[in-house]
Amino acid sequence: MKRSLGVCYYPEHWPEAQWAEDAARMADLGLTWVRIGEFAWKRMEPVEGQYDWSWLDRAIETLGAAGLRVVLGTPTATPPAWVVAKHPDMLPVDVEGRVRGYGSRRHYCFSHAGYLEECRKIVSAMAKRYGRNAHIAAWQTDNEYSCHDTVLSYSDCARSAFRDWLRGQFPGAGNDGDIDALNAAWGNVFWSMDYGDFDQIGLPNLTVTETNPAHAHAFRRFASDQVVAFNRAQVDILRAHSDAPIAHNYMGRITDFDHFKVGADLDIASWDSYPLGFLEDRSGATDAHQRAYSRQGDPDFQAFHHDLYRAVGKDGRWWIMEQQPGPVNWAPYNPAPLPGMVRLWTWEAFAHGAEAVCYFRWRQAPFAQEQMHAGLLRPDSVEAEAFGEAADVMAELADAPDVSPAQAPVAIMFDYDADAMWTVQPHGTDLSYFGLVFDWYRACRKLGLSVDILPPDTRDFDGYALVMVPGMMHMPDDLKGALNAAAGQVILGPRSGARDAHFTIPTPLPPAWPGSDLVVERVQSIRPDLPILVEGAGAVVGYLEQLGGGEACILHTEGKAPLAVRCAPRVTYMAGWGDDALHMRLIKMVAPDLATHNLPEGLRRRETGAEVFWFNYADHPVEIEGEILQPAGVLRRAAMLG
Ligand code: GAL
Repeated sequence: MKRSLGVCYYPEHWPEAQWAEDAARMADLGLTWVRIGEFAWKRMEPVEGQYDWSWLDRAIETLGAAGLRVVLGTPTATPPAWVVAKHPDMLPVDVEGRVRGYGSRRHYCFSHAGYLEECRKIVSAMAKRYGRNAHIAAWQTDNEYSCHDTVLSYSDCARSAFRDWLRGQFPGAGNDGDIDALNAAWGNVFWSMDYGDFDQIGLPNLTVTETNPAHAHAFRRFASDQVVAFNRAQVDILRAHSDAPIAHNYMGRITDFDHFKVGADLDIASWDSYPLGFLEDRSGATDAHQRAYSRQGDPDFQAFHHDLYRAVGKDGRWWIMEQQPGPVNWAPYNPAPLPGMVRLWTWEAFAHGAEAVCYFRWRQAPFAQEQMHAGLLRPDSVEAEAFGEAADVMAELADAPDVSPAQAPVAIMFDYDADAMWTVQPHGTDLSYFGLVFDWYRACRKLGLSVDILPPDTRDFDGYALVMVPGMMHMPDDLKGALNAAAGQVILGPRSGARDAHFTIPTPLPPAWPGSDLVVERVQSIRPDLPILVEGAGAVVGYLEQLGGGEACILHTEGKAPLAVRCAPRVTYMAGWGDDALHMRLIKMVAPDLATHNLPEGLRRRETGAEVFWFNYADHPVEIEGEILQPAGVLRRAAMLG
């Protein structure tokens, strides 16, 4: 598969007379893909049941005639006013019980049956009209599920759908569920919370104090399943009328639905990469780190998501559907990327196996919410800075190899259900599952290691020298068995196996590791400004468990508490959330044969089947392989195979 570039385009934003010239310029630049349509419902169906495809027919024809391949988005992220007027109760409700109104986008509740039916109608009409159109090379369902915090809705329709979902989770006689089984599984004897009937169960918001974590966790799992079902309804329709591959555009650090489950219904995973916005908005980085990388982005955040979505995509197929091209409009501060960063981000995606990188967007919009968001062109159609960087990548792609996947030496498991459990019960300010996994990921990257992310149902760990499974609060027994049998080393903890599937502490106590008497005797979260020093080097900074039993202890705190303990010949339980130095140290201790590197600050390395890349995220030059790499510099070498 050749690596290719594309762009997001909104023909409905521009006079039709401009389309042909736009298409010609895209083709001249060398772009392959153009994504259109995902917000244009009102133009497609101005009033209920009356479709106007004429403009879209012409837009697709114009783009296709220029040699571009069209990715057509279903427009269900922006239901027009007439849909909302017809179904006023389709609007989502926030955790405070307030209706989230019309006037922007994503104003729908995943559980509203009437809205789902409207979606089926518009998607069917599109699929019938364009399913066999030669220019339609791929589909995108909806746009960024969960954007603007829209997965959890506390509406009446969500409440009744949740009750039905719970009946299915705790099946009983006939169509009704087994309410006693639910009460027992959730521990509802506590605070007299036992229910007599599923219809007594409410949503886990607006309670006097915290709700039962089992209840809150179940609601998150339900909400995730609603996204899967919503997406599947569109996929089923598209597949009935089209053979083109189907994608969805996921986001950065969005974990409130199970992307692996959505991805199982799709052909391609794609994600929308806004490195500078994410650094400001959701990386959780310190102020000093944000200042150092404000025009480059976090050196690991993009790579982590590239590796995550490679795992979400069927057979590893993944794209960047939206790539930041310049300043955006939505973060606390919106600086311009350092010159060269758009090129670096593009190459980094290719280094992690992307088939395509599409820039958001072709031309900056002079109107409405995103008028402060750069494009490849300015509003006056003059080339913006990123245009030239995209042209540079195009030229460099000419002699670059095709997508060449290769198994990485180390793997990290990522489990959206564990993320939900940590979110419900973080046990300390700012502690999150995503944060823990990302810290392990960064430690690997600082050692120059390429990483594969694995879904939680992985049972075959062949070929990995090291597998990390931190923080997975519910661990099925067969996973524990498979990890014990892995040929490489395994690092677990903290909180591994800390709960059963319904949020109860199991006995025997965690981690209940097969063949081991290791026990987590007590848990504590610790203040980041009171780190616990570790004998030798490094510190525990987030979460610390007290261990009893187990085999050899390979790391102690300075207070002599066991910190990293073997619970099987090749399995190490790490009882603390460490700083980077500690995580890097433990990786080298348990897997000394890994070929690690001492990379200077800001430099990252990535190996594919055919190439080795270095990316300079630092704001100063660094030396590597005898070369001086400038800020935003990319070094690409053929891999030494064998
Ligand atoms: C994405 C979204 C786009 C656009 C972009 C702006 O999250 O999918 O439609 O809003 O952000 O950066």
